[in-house]
Formats: sequence, structure tokens, C-alpha cells
Amino acid sequence: MKNILITGGAGFIGSHLTRLFVTKYPDYNIVNLDKLTYAGNLENLRDIESAPNYRFVKGDIVDMEQMRAVFKQYNFDGVLHCAAESHVDRSITDPLSFVKTNVLGTMTLLQAAKEHWTGNMEGKIFYHISTDEVYGSLGTEGFFTETTAYDPRSPYSASKASSDHFVRAYYHTYKLPVKISNCSNNYGPYHFPEKLIPLCIHNIIHNKPLPIYGKGENVRDWLYVEDHVRAIDTIFHNGKVGETYNIGGHNEWTNIALVKELCRQMDEKLGRAPGTNEKLITYVQDRAGHDMRYAIDATKLKNELGWLPSLQFEEGISKTIDWYLANTEWLNHVTSGDYKKYYEEMYAGR
Ligand code: NAD
Ligand code: TYD
Repeated sequence: MKNILITGGAGFIGSHLTRLFVTKYPDYNIVNLDKLTYAGNLENLRDIESAPNYRFVKGDIVDMEQMRAVFKQYNFDGVLHCAAESHVDRSITDPLSFVKTNVLGTMTLLQAAKEHWTGNMEGKIFYHISTDEVYGSLGTEGFFTETTAYDPRSPYSASKASSDHFVRAYYHTYKLPVKISNCSNNYGPYHFPEKLIPLCIHNIIHNKPLPIYGKGENVRDWLYVEDHVRAIDTIFHNGKVGETYNIGGHNEWTNIALVKELCRQMDEKLGRAPGTNEKLITYVQDRAGHDMRYAIDATKLKNELGWLPSLQFEEGISKTIDWYLANTEWLNHVTSGDYKKYYEEMYAGR
């Protein structure tokens, strides 16, 4: 395995994955192809940008001619496909762009890989990074396993479910060597502050309201991003072709309990009196079609490949807050310009 394409490597998870592969595998040539949408930021990769085995290509996965050309130029043996539109709230206001990038973009990459690898599929891997949201919403009991029926409910999760189906279709129809993983909610450094955890950290720093959708009783299963990319590394190298693996932290929190934990830790770290930050909590209008609970059963990954999450949540959150407090320049940069407009439009009516 020599030439690896990572799509969406300038985003949150993609940047951690690119860093891991560039530093852990000096013999691999890593090409990060990213469109640099609002969510993509080359500052996320400053520390590795001059590594000899790393190259950045600005590109759009929907562009068939460009994808054919990069496959030809770099002769990829493996693809780690992270590029996507990833925010549920944006998918509610602009669903078509999710279909374009997540469905058509994944199709375009599959087709480019198939054309390039036809006649020589041996040792090739097309790895699709997906989400647990394809399985829908749980009640208070149970977990998502790899055999749970798909039941996506937001335009985001429907577009990811659709892309998963196309990946499997290329495996069954054309024998494209694929792997898929479906992971629970990630958190950690370089997370764009439109998602719950970095948005609240940013707002606490600036003493701004913390918007909690509905009653704050929705449950998410949180995993530290470095544990996720470690799982991807394990599956990429040791997982079975054609298989799906669920990745999760067995770490369920209601949104309100999680935000209170953030408030508590940030009172301490910012030298504010206990209870100060909690006063910023503001209940706002619920998200349309808000999934109640996600929870992953990652037994297959543990039993077959020996992966386990390494960090306890309180520790992971503490590390994450410390990173944001030490990287205010990054935070200020990504929240300048279009972010303010986004925030006003998304939250003003709530
Ligand atoms: P992100 O929004 O932070 O990053 C997405 C990246 O894709 C950005 O760098 C963006 O510029 C790039 N991109 C978008 N459209 C593109 C296009 N047309 N062509 C090329 N590049 C394009 O997303 P993320 O949170 O890092 O998620 C990465 C992947 O992991 C996604 O597929 C997502 O569905 C999946 N996932 C995310 C989570 C999570 O909690 N964030 C959990 C499970 C799975
Ligand atoms: P989010 O980080 O957008 O991830 P996802 O919707 O993919 O799970 O949201 C996590 C949870 O937090 C989800 O239940 C919605 C809720 N939420 C809020 O209550 N307020 C907010 O401002 C945001 C962005 C999310």
C-alpha cells in the first residue's frame, strides 16, 4: 500500500486522520483532496504541511474529470473518504447540497476508483467513513449494531445512508474492495464551532447564551476524535473487505448534562465562580425531526480487531477545552466572516 487519497482531510475528522497517516506511515504518499468549504481549513494541518509524504490538492469530489485525473496522476492504492457536508442543521435549510456532495460526490469517487482499478483490484481499498445517524433514532433502550436496519430521518443522515448503499452496490456489482465504518458523535480539537461542543466552548469563552434545543434530553454517544481515527487505521489495515464496523465510545450523555459538565469545567479553567457558566444555558426551539438517542454497540470491532476507546469523557473534554483555550487564534479565525451570518440566521428565529 503506497499511494493513499484522503478526501476532506482539511475538515475535523479528516485532519486528525491525515495527521495520523502522515506521521505513522512515512512510506505512504498521502494526498489530501479537499474543496475547502467553510468547514475545511488548512490551518488544521499546519504541523504536517511540509512533511515529504504529504500533498494537498484543492478539488471537488463531484467533479468526475478531476477525480479521473487525480487517480491517474497519483495512482492511488487506497481511498479514505471523509469529505462530506456534515451538519444536520445545515441539511435542514439546504438539503440539496447534501445530496450533491454526499451522494453524487461519493458516487463519483467510487466510479473513478472502479475505472482506475478495473483488472487490478488486488490489495486496493475504498474506505467510506460514515455515521451512526443512518440507523435513525433509538428509544431509551438498545444499541445500533452493524445489522440494524437503516432508518435515516434528516436530509444529512439520508444522504449518508444513500452513499453507504452505493458503496455496497459497487462491492457487490463490480467487486470494488470496500470497507465502511459508522461512528457515533466525535469531539476534540479542530471541531468547527457549529456543532454542540465547540459551539458551547466558544460561547462560554465569550459569555454568550448556550442554545439547548428542546428540553436538552436528547442523548448522544461521544467519542474522542483521536480514538475514531485510530479505529479507522485499524479497520483500514486489518478489517475485512466488504464489511461494516460500528465505532462508538459507550459514552452516552444527554445534551443538558453534557453542557453542564462543560460549564463546570470551564468555570474552573477560567477562574469563574462555580455556577457562573450554567447561567448562560438557554432553552431554544427544538430542531425539526430531532433524533432522540444514538448509541453504538462496537462489540464487533472489539472482538475482531481489538479496538477500544482510550479516553474517559471527562478527561477528553478537559483536553478539548484546554486546546480551544490555547488556540484562540484558530477559533477567532474560523468564527470571523461567514460564521457570524450563519449564527444569526440559524439562531435568531429560535
Ligand atoms: P467536516 O464538515 O468537519 O469536514 C468535511 C470536509 O469535507 C471539509 O474539509 C470540507 O471542505 C470537505 N468537503 C466538503 N465538500 C467537499 C467536496 N465536494 N469535495 C471535496 N471536499 C469537500 O466533517 P467531519 O466532522 O470531519 O466529518 C467527516 C466525515 O465523518 C463525514 O463523512 C461525516 O459524515 C463522518 N462522521 C462525522 C462524525 C462527527 O461527529 N463529526 C461522526 C461520524 C461520522
Ligand atoms: P450536533 O453537534 O449538531 O451533532 P448531531 O446533530 O450530528 O448529533 O448536535 C448534538 C446534539 O446537540 C443534538 O442533539 C442537537 C443538540 N444541539 C443543541 O442542543 N444546540 C445546538 O446549538 C446544537 C448545534 C446542537
